[in-house]
Amino acid sequence: MAGRLKDKVAIVTGAGSAGPGWGNGKATAVLFAREGARIFAVDIDTAAADETRAIIEEEGGACAVHQADVTDEGAVEAIVAACLDAFGHIDILHNNVGGSAPGGAASMTKETWDRQMDHNLNHVFLACRHVLPVMERQDGGAIVNVASVSGIRWTGSWHIAYDAAKAALIRFSKVVALEYAKKGIRCNTVVPGQMHTPLVEARLARDRTDGDVAALIASRDARIPMGKQGDAWDVAYAALYLASDEAKYVTATEIVVDGGLTAKCD
Ligand SMILES: NC(=O)c1ccc[n+]([C@@H]2O[C@H](COP(=O)([O-])OP(=O)(O)OC[C@H]3O[C@@H](n4cnc5c(N)ncnc54)[C@H](O)[C@@H]3O)[C@@H](O)[C@H]2O)c1
Repeated sequence: MAGRLKDKVAIVTGAGSAGPGWGNGKATAVLFAREGARIFAVDIDTAAADETRAIIEEEGGACAVHQADVTDEGAVEAIVAACLDAFGHIDILHNNVGGSAPGGAASMTKETWDRQMDHNLNHVFLACRHVLPVMERQDGGAIVNVASVSGIRWTGSWHIAYDAAKAALIRFSKVVALEYAKKGIRCNTVVPGQMHTPLVEARLARDRTDGDVAALIASRDARIPMGKQGDAWDVAYAALYLASDEAKYVTATEIVVDGGLTAKCD
C-alpha cells in the first residue's frame, strides 16, 4: 500500500458495479483501500459490494459491506451509525451512486423525474446532512461527489433529469464547501465524461442503441477528442487526489475527467 489515505475511513456509496468489471465506485473503493483507507462499502446490491470487499481483502485491505438504499434518509442515518460502530470515524465520504434514465422535458414522467432526482442529487444531500456533523466533531473531512459532464454540456443523449441533477450536484458541492471551509471539511466533485464502465453493457446500450453495444461504444468513442472513452480508474484516481491530504488546499471545485470532451463545441 502506498499510504496516500493511511489511517482514513472512507464511506463509498455504490461501491459495487452494475455488471462484471470495474464501475466507478468499485474502482474507487479498491484504490482507496490500496492507499491505506478502511472502506465502508455501501450498495443496494449486497453481492456487488461483496465482490468489492473480496478484492480489497485479498489485497490485504479492510472493508465492511453495508446494504442500503442511499435515497432513504433512515437508511443513511443507519449507514453513518454503522460506519462509526465499525471503524470509529468518517474521514472521507465518496458519493458515487447515480445514473441516467432516458427522457425529455415533455416525454419524461413525473415519477421518473423524481426517481432521477433521488438517485443523482437528493441522496448526496442526505449523506452530507448526516456525515457533516460527524466530520465537524472530528475537525475535518473530505467529501467527493461524482457528477457527470452531462451536468455541464450536451453529451448526445436525452436524459433531462440526469443533466439537471448533475448540474445541481456540482453547485451543491460548492455551497457545502463554502459553508464548511473554515471547519477543515473540503467538498469537491469529480466530473466524468463518457466512461466505459459495466453500465454501458448492462443498461445504456439497451436504452440508447437497441442493445447494440458495439454501436454505442463506437458513438461514445467518436465524440471524444482523445478518441476513446475513459475507464473507472480514471475517475478513481481523480477521486483519490481530492480525498487525500495532497488536496488540502483544494475545495469547492471540480476535476473533469473527459478526454477533452467538454472543451469541444460540437
Ligand atoms: N459510466 C459513465 O460513463 C459515467 C459517466 C459520467 C458519470 N458517471 C457517474 O458515475 C457514477 C457511478 O457510475 P457507474 O457507471 O460506476 O455505475 P454502476 O451502476 O456500475 O455502479 C453503481 C453501483 O451503485 C449501486 N446503487 C444503485 N442505486 C443505489 C442506491 N439507491 N443505493 C445504494 N447503491 C445503489 C448499484 O447496485 C451499483 O453497484 C454515477 O454517479 C454516474 O452518474 C458515470
